[in-house]
Amino acid sequence: MYVCICNALNERKVQASLDNGATTPAAVFRQHDCQVQCGKCVPTLRAMAAEHRAACARHSAQPADAVAQPAYSVAAE
Ligand code: FES
Repeated sequence: MYVCICNALNERKVQASLDNGATTPAAVFRQHDCQVQCGKCVPTLRAMAAEHRAACARHSAQPADAVAQPAYSVAAE
């Protein structure tokens, strides 16, 4: 689905930009060598960027040994 019709940016392209470090709609446009035209996509781009930041924060907030501890370790102690 297209997020930005003016610049033919679909969800896959926007997600790739966010994965490559874009944190704002302007950064997404820069990564695709385009700029805002009508602006109707900007709220959606902001929401996608915020959701991406939140997902990254949740991922990095997990304790380092969360995966290393087997589920049965508590019962074995
Ligand atoms: S829809 Fe993105 S600038 Fe118009």
